[in-house]
Amino acid sequence: MEVLSRAQALEAAGRRVIHMEIGEPDFTAPEPVVEAGMRALRDGSTAYTPALGLPALREAIAAHYASRYGVAVPAARIAVTAGASGALLLVLALYLDPGDEILVPDPGYPGYRQFIRAFEGVPRAIAVGAESAFQPTLESVQRAWSPNTRGLLVGSPSNPSGTLLPRAELRRIAQFLAERGGVLIVDEIYQGLVYGEAPSTALDLPGEVVLVNSFSKYFCMTGWRLGWTVLPAASTRAFENIAQHLFICASSAAQHAALAAFGQPALEILEGRRREFERRRDFIVPELQRAGLTVPCTPNGAFYVYADCSRFDQDAKRFALGLLDRGGVAATPGADFGANQTRHFLRFAYTRSMGDLEEGARRIARFCAGA
Ligand SMILES: Cc1ncc(COP(=O)(O)O)c(C=O)c1O
Repeated sequence: MEVLSRAQALEAAGRRVIHMEIGEPDFTAPEPVVEAGMRALRDGSTAYTPALGLPALREAIAAHYASRYGVAVPAARIAVTAGASGALLLVLALYLDPGDEILVPDPGYPGYRQFIRAFEGVPRAIAVGAESAFQPTLESVQRAWSPNTRGLLVGSPSNPSGTLLPRAELRRIAQFLAERGGVLIVDEIYQGLVYGEAPSTALDLPGEVVLVNSFSKYFCMTGWRLGWTVLPAASTRAFENIAQHLFICASSAAQHAALAAFGQPALEILEGRRREFERRRDFIVPELQRAGLTVPCTPNGAFYVYADCSRFDQDAKRFALGLLDRGGVAATPGADFGANQTRHFLRFAYTRSMGDLEEGARRIARFCAGA
């Protein structure tokens, strides 16, 4: 936030800033989704929906799991929410009692800690480093597990590192949690944005598994505030009660619009964008390395590069502010994502056009050469 407001102040003073701090796609919703949304508004399809979402949208999401991921899930287990944020809030409301610990990776998405604290839970950090692609391992989960631990919340692909938790390892973790009666919450918000391998889901893992997902990233619908969760069958009724009380429902116009997101025309547009993100990743990672930054793990998902700047500065926040002030490039200091070696890291988002990324790369190289 500090970087963003400083970047905006520089822009107000007439400087051009290349924004690589922003974690949202530079693409907007595909045209068929926009059209469906406008139709919903014109037709007056704007009343409250059922708390768990439009039945047709829940069916469409279930069909998407079957067609793209080859896994069957009944629509009855799917709840539509106000983004992944709404899903995380409701899921944690459902599972947490005061004092319960939830294991979270450090570095990891900063919202996790706040959602857990909101229900008087205790976020317990698992230090994750380059040796495990910034993802937890079974051993690290076992080490961190205590009598107060209720479960693990993990994102794959991860924000900030863009790395995936290998399926075999996630399965071993799921098995361990199942034996302990813990809940495994997998944030799949960047699902679909993977490069060089087939997209996957944790849906078929054993035990109490909850998935969180969203229309924000792959579907490029951040401000529409729409997401979903896949719940164990036994939890849906209690979830529905809490959702009804806290939200009534997710935006109905957005839900009607999202029905078009699973149609072939929208999916073709979105796959084209995924390929564009991959092209940008293939461009920016070597450019950052050439500039002298270290990228310990090549990201194979999301749209982030997590890069070590300690060769130039032991304080990534100072480096980020210098890069912004003198170099004209905004990036996010690692400290936003936790405390585990984050002082040495920056997160670069490639959510900008190739032209902007080329200019950004030139500026970063110039800044590093003078640092
Ligand atoms: C890992 C992760 N989870 C959840 C969210 C929340 O997203 P939304 O509420 O827009 O679906 C974000 C947003 O950046 C994120 O990066």
